[in-house]
Amino acid sequence: MTTKHRSDVLIIGSGAAGLTCALHLADHFNINLICKGQLKEGATFYAQGGIAAVLDQADSVDSHVADTLRAGADLCNKETVQYTVENSKAAIDWLIQKGVKFSLDENSDDDNDYHLTREGGHSHRRIIHSADATGKAVQTTLSEAILNNKRIKLFENYNAIDLVTTHSLGIIGEPNQCHGAYALNRQSGQVESFEAKFVVLATGGASKVYLYTSNPDISSGDGIAMAWRSGCRVANLEFNQFHPTCLFHSKANSFLITEALRGEGAHLKLPSGERFMPKFDSRAELAPRDIVARAIDHEIKRLGVDCVYLDISHKEDEFIKSHFPTIYKRLLKLNIDITSDPIPVVPAAHYTCGGIVVDKHASTDLAALYAIGEVAFTGLHGANRMASNSLLECLVYAKKAAESIIQQKDISFNDSVDIPSWDESQVSDSDEEVVVSHNWHELRHLMWNYVGIVRTTKRLERAKRRIQLLKQEVKDYYSNVTVTSDLLELRNLITVAELIIECAMRRKESRGLHYTLDYPETTDEQPPTDTILSRVY
Ligand code: FAD
Ligand code: SIN
Repeated sequence: MTTKHRSDVLIIGSGAAGLTCALHLADHFNINLICKGQLKEGATFYAQGGIAAVLDQADSVDSHVADTLRAGADLCNKETVQYTVENSKAAIDWLIQKGVKFSLDENSDDDNDYHLTREGGHSHRRIIHSADATGKAVQTTLSEAILNNKRIKLFENYNAIDLVTTHSLGIIGEPNQCHGAYALNRQSGQVESFEAKFVVLATGGASKVYLYTSNPDISSGDGIAMAWRSGCRVANLEFNQFHPTCLFHSKANSFLITEALRGEGAHLKLPSGERFMPKFDSRAELAPRDIVARAIDHEIKRLGVDCVYLDISHKEDEFIKSHFPTIYKRLLKLNIDITSDPIPVVPAAHYTCGGIVVDKHASTDLAALYAIGEVAFTGLHGANRMASNSLLECLVYAKKAAESIIQQKDISFNDSVDIPSWDESQVSDSDEEVVVSHNWHELRHLMWNYVGIVRTTKRLERAKRRIQLLKQEVKDYYSNVTVTSDLLELRNLITVAELIIECAMRRKESRGLHYTLDYPETTDEQPPTDTILSRVY
């Protein structure tokens, strides 16, 4: 018998997006909040650089908007960009009011002046931050508020499996809407059901589909895959952002070296010590990420070396230690003293610019289902996300979704459905877990090798053929064995990989993060089109 839970709103995901939405809703609704691991575990916790917002007198909304559009290679939705940037200050004020401690400007006489740093693509200092651990400050503060809120019930270690919809219940002749989700309780191994009037997907990105990534383990694209299986459209998944500077070290490969280091003057160098970014772009180390990552990839391949180096040792020791304490301490443990040594770095998969198509209220194609944060496609990032615009998007659209849900409080959705028990009658425990681990490894390797920073049609076709085989194998396996977290993630990663490849094959040009040797130019099509996939393609 499946354990059943019921609430007004079900929020899946406890990063910046999920927590913000829950806190904005909690005065109006009872909320069940589920997350795959512990409350803090998601990309948000690891965010380093900060949050972009218009906070300085010398800065302006117009300038932030123009920088975002430029970084996005002409593909951003202008209305979304305008709305997000206009709401940036309010989003930061809300965080400050919740208790987030941002770094103060030590050179200002005013005790309330925050230090603003710079990152690639930004023409002003506009990144508010908590030293080099901004995500930790945001996640910890919002988590505390969640734990103290009686109307929010937290379920840690629950892996959402699939959404429950009118159609998936086999109810014919009624409009399709979302009624909740099934989730695997990772501790008991049992599947439980969560019924709700509204469901919010805040499950983060899908960078784990690549072998090397800055992301934590939870980033397996579950929300994108679940929404897709329920009939929602997805868009622009060809735009996978590779962060230019992840640590290259056998003991800490996925550790990010924040772009704020370059914002504060760090140089990228070849093993010979020569700087190379000025020959690729006039903005040198502060060019947008797609350009810097491609330049590094080019130099690594040209010279046949393992990595390049990021060097900030020319700055004062005290400045480095106070602005980048987390990175300083972490690297010192690996015998790299960043006040004197250059840091070995390589690009790694970092951010999913595309996602579930949502409207300006964060509503998906499925009634009563919202998507916010990295899982969603709002059009903010276009073909390349500008640094530190992601946490901003989480905050702005989580509030927007909450407002939309509150407005619909009295609309009577059909909330009388009874979600049936999870059917386990046809499955047995697996005695071949190796199928999952092997296929997982193969998938992430092939995505890295064939669908990476530089693409070709031939490589994409090769990847597509291999994904078809993996898909069939995992489908057969899934129908026969009891679900586990690894199996659920693999199934979702395969779906997302297939969607990324499909989007990449449809874009017959290079733009922003999507670069293919077969179509190296950007088309002059105006306006350029998003790659939107609907279930039958
Ligand atoms: P996340 O914070 O990733 O949270 C996802 C949540 O969904 C988690 O709680 C997870 O458990 C849950 N979840 C996922 N799948 C399921 C499932 N099946 N069932 C139940 N729960 C599920 N952006 C910036 O703007 N500034 C920065 O400085 C910055 N630095 C970054 C540094 C690093 C190392 C990384 C990885 C990213 C960085 N980013 C930065 C990007 C930014 O952190 C993320 O885009 C953002 O935090 C995403 O927030 P989110 O709430 O959408 O998802
Ligand atoms: C970083 O600190 O370099 C990451 C910023 C981001 O991903 O926006």
